[in-house]
Amino acid sequence: MKIAIASDHGGYELKEKIKEHFANWEWEDLGTYSTGSVDYPDYGFKLAKAIEQKKYEKGIIICGTGIGISIAANRCKNVRAALCHNAYTAEMARRHNDANVLALGGRVLDPKTAFEIVEIFFRTPFDGGRHERRVQKLSSESCR
Ligand code: RB5
Repeated sequence: MKIAIASDHGGYELKEKIKEHFANWEWEDLGTYSTGSVDYPDYGFKLAKAIEQKKYEKGIIICGTGIGISIAANRCKNVRAALCHNAYTAEMARRHNDANVLALGGRVLDPKTAFEIVEIFFRTPFDGGRHERRVQKLSSESCR
């Protein structure tokens, strides 16, 4: 499975470290490609639109805190971006929320914790069952 990854300047260094650490995984890097200042919504939307269009099944987005870029990504249809801080939140994001985008804070996490989160997120399946109904209710139409 090819994994899409994107960040703003606040997440750039962690993005590069993740690609290097998981060098045998297949990555599609949607930018940014330097530490020059950019706007996180542009990269959150870029990756989320690609997920919405089913170009990729899952992705990773990173900004300084992970907050802004996850707010942006969650505006796109069928995107469930989860901001994870540790192994537990990464596991629950998959098991209970069927999250398809992992959001990380490049200025919050040490690389070792970030690698652990990535590993767990991508190897954990969705539990289904009662969570299926709840995930269905997350669609933007349910908010009306
Ligand atoms: C950029 O300085 C910073 O605001 C951004 O990376 C992110 O943390 C926003 O939520």
